[in-house]
Amino acid sequence: MAQPTEIRILSSKDDLFQAAADEFANLALSTVRDHGRFTVALSGGSTPKGMHELLSSGAFPKIPWDKISFFFGDERYVPPDHPESNYRMANETLLSKVGAKHVFRMPTEERDPEVAARAYEVTLVEQFHLSPGEFPRFDLIILGLGPDGHTASLFPASRALDEEKHMVVANWVEKFQSYRITLTYPVINYAANVTFLVSGSDKTPALHRIFEENANLPARRIQPAQGRLLWLLDREAAGTVSFPANLG
Ligand code: 6PG
Repeated sequence: MAQPTEIRILSSKDDLFQAAADEFANLALSTVRDHGRFTVALSGGSTPKGMHELLSSGAFPKIPWDKISFFFGDERYVPPDHPESNYRMANETLLSKVGAKHVFRMPTEERDPEVAARAYEVTLVEQFHLSPGEFPRFDLIILGLGPDGHTASLFPASRALDEEKHMVVANWVEKFQSYRITLTYPVINYAANVTFLVSGSDKTPALHRIFEENANLPARRIQPAQGRLLWLLDREAAGTVSFPANLG
């Protein structure tokens, strides 16, 4: 049973980061207490940096970093030390600072993106002890929103939008003329918690299309079947968008 979508509008970017860090910490503490481990897929892009920097600032001393398994929702097809790498961003702003012990990055050093996608699926099978045909249920997947309504590397009109079998795919993104590796809808929509972090007025049009026009944008199709969907927006991004009251 899907839980109602929650939308929280924070008055500033800093308040958004604080809310996101608090959300992460609360989930990590309760999940490790109850299950001994916390599995999270980090988002790429720039918005998560503020949350990462808060989490690694020492303000959350109780987070059991050694009990957290870090994965990625998507990755640009570049080496892990490339300026565009989502892994590099996360490592610099969070993982190296907290001494993360269990980090599973997408292997973009593979020559063929499809090989990399298959290899990451093997990692998920191993780390989540999956039976054939079973999908991993992440405790938390963090997502961003692109101005075109993409999320992770699920871009409009890209093939990955139709993927129902694979957990991870190589997705050709026409506008970048490059491949991305991305988790697919079956995985993201199976998560226990999905949190969007959205900041800035450049995202307002996409939010308008999603929440007022119900446009079939990739981010709109994130609907965890048995999980909690939380949108954390700053006031700038929310703009004058009117969000439906009952978002069940
Ligand atoms: C990526 C992300 C992507 C990102 C959005 C928003 O690899 O870039 O996964 O989905 O979250 O493009 O990016 P910003 O946070 O930089 O606006």
